Amino acid sequence: MGHSVQEKIAALREELRRHEHLYYVLDRPEISDLEYDAMIRDLQALETAHPDLLTPDSPTQRVGGKPREGFVKVRHSSAMLSLDNALNEGELRDFDRRVGELLQGEPYTYVAEVKLDGLSMAARFEDGLFRLAVTRGDGSEGEDVTDNARTIRTLPLRVETHLPRFEVRGEVVMLQRHFDQLNEERERQGLPRYVNPRNSAAGSLRVLEPSITASRKLEFFAYLLLVDGKPAFDSHWESLRAMERMGFKVNPNRARAAGVEELFAFCQSMEARRDDLGYEIDGVVAKVDSIPQQDRLGWTAKAPRWAIAFKFPARQEETVVENIVVQVGRTGALTPVAKLKPVFVSGVTVSNATLHNEDEIQRLDVQIGDTVLIERSGDVIPKVVKVVRQGAARRKFDMPKQCPQCGGDVVRAEGEAASRCLNSNCPARLKESVLHFAARGVMDIDGMGDVLVDQLVDRGLVKNIADLYELTLNQFLSLERMGEKSATKILQNIERSRRQPLPRLLNGLGIPFVGERTAQILADTFGDLDRIAAAGVDTLQAANEVGPKVGESIRRFFAEEHNRALVERLRAAGLTFTHQASRVEGGPLAGKVFVITGTLPSMSREEAKAKIEAAGGKTTDSVSRKTSYLVAGEDAGSKLKKAHTLGVPVLDEEALLALIGQ
Ligand code: IVH
Repeated sequence: MGHSVQEKIAALREELRRHEHLYYVLDRPEISDLEYDAMIRDLQALETAHPDLLTPDSPTQRVGGKPREGFVKVRHSSAMLSLDNALNEGELRDFDRRVGELLQGEPYTYVAEVKLDGLSMAARFEDGLFRLAVTRGDGSEGEDVTDNARTIRTLPLRVETHLPRFEVRGEVVMLQRHFDQLNEERERQGLPRYVNPRNSAAGSLRVLEPSITASRKLEFFAYLLLVDGKPAFDSHWESLRAMERMGFKVNPNRARAAGVEELFAFCQSMEARRDDLGYEIDGVVAKVDSIPQQDRLGWTAKAPRWAIAFKFPARQEETVVENIVVQVGRTGALTPVAKLKPVFVSGVTVSNATLHNEDEIQRLDVQIGDTVLIERSGDVIPKVVKVVRQGAARRKFDMPKQCPQCGGDVVRAEGEAASRCLNSNCPARLKESVLHFAARGVMDIDGMGDVLVDQLVDRGLVKNIADLYELTLNQFLSLERMGEKSATKILQNIERSRRQPLPRLLNGLGIPFVGERTAQILADTFGDLDRIAAAGVDTLQAANEVGPKVGESIRRFFAEEHNRALVERLRAAGLTFTHQASRVEGGPLAGKVFVITGTLPSMSREEAKAKIEAAGGKTTDSVSRKTSYLVAGEDAGSKLKKAHTLGVPVLDEEALLALIGQ
């Protein structure tokens, strides 16, 4: 039996590695997140039951182990130097001229790659296994961040290679959307926001608690392959391809360039696409492709002569804050926004910048009349980086006590960063909730944009989202700039939205903390809106990823009378309240059959059964070949014996909870 568990573990690990590579590196998943999570939990349970079989390269080890006391310093295998910069086309041509002269007329080509704006890290491997990760530090010595780096999904923990030892250097970055999520989460917790994705990637890699790194979803892009501190191939392009074959993520935005013309064209094309990548780049790195030529070109004290960083213009500009106003969001949160003297920032005219909340205003010490530094990053709303000069007649901004939209009371709850309008009928909140409900990816009501929603709400035609389903053609025709054709179209789109599946409806309700993913999990776990609405916090927490905070928020939403009334009207409108791909397919224990025996330390067998079922599993009374797991407590008898005979894995309570994800 020991043998079969070992095999099962090995097979699961291999399968998980394959799916991680498909998902994180190739961006081509073959299974759903839930299926992946279920496999991880299977493996976790087996490893908890057989701790002797646990190895550091197991996919389960990405969740982050024990915190550390401090970081140990490690010397680099060869210096991690920086690059010289070219700030414009002329300087790029100067660089190319120097390369040409030093190579004395020999032909050469370049490899151009995007310059990722994160922090560099070296990862060392021995016998195909990830062993050590070191930050750049001062270039000759960095910090050992191995345990944290292990949580980065795009860093393979095991690779197929004939190289007994090698090192991969690359950039650790945080995707824009993960950065935004992180800041939203921090804001909810009353913590200060991170300034930009690079700082937050650095902060996330250099924490003493690996589980924090794990939660931050960092990415590692490889750009250098070294053996004993030296390039492993004769061509840089080849080494990029080799790393890709080994399973590393190498940035796809790269090209070979025959000369400076092609090189500059690549720089320009990347600059144009800068906003669409989903992560920050601050330029293009050009490297001479041939390693023998790189050797001949050599290094200065600071940087290689065979490479250059073509820097894009800064995305920061100075301008004056002319006013500070507040915007009201769908949860009633009041967001202060700086109205700026319009300024051109790398291709875009900026006249608004978010100030997020009161704490942020205090942190920046910004007032009306100040000159500030504005930064644009990705396609997100520009932000104020700092005050450059205080205005002579500067004027302090105070969060209004009354909502500027409806006059309702504004309150800032203890431990929250946001001030909120408490009036749930506030038209500004209502408009935002209708827009969210109708948004693409939610209920997908095409055509239901700002202008239309403003009119519908201002004329009292829509007082909550259920009203959308009672709108008539004549009502639409009574609106400004609305012809028969578009009115009919919108009605059709509303009509069609009735059939949107439950996860979208749940997301559309705008329950705080319930976004797309949580809505999906809830629908998968409970299969039905009424069960979710009726559930207590404990039951809700049986769903994967739902903790006390989210559970409480859901419970509170459905406890409110007007929300219950809203749900009834949506039911009457024929919206989808049940979920097909429900429990059996969706939950983390989907497809698994459990038998429970003996006395469990902290719960009754009934409770264990309920938990298993809530997570999509089944329970039966007797152990057979079809049993996936036996959950055994104290004084387990014949069932335990039978499980051993049949090779059915045995879990204790802890392992069961791990499997469910608790
Ligand atoms: S090559 C000697 N390639 O830019 C070669 N660096 O100023 C050094 N960086 O510290 C690195 N993307 O953190 C290289 N595709 C890329 C890069 C890249 C970002 C960073 C790296 C380095 C800094 C150099």
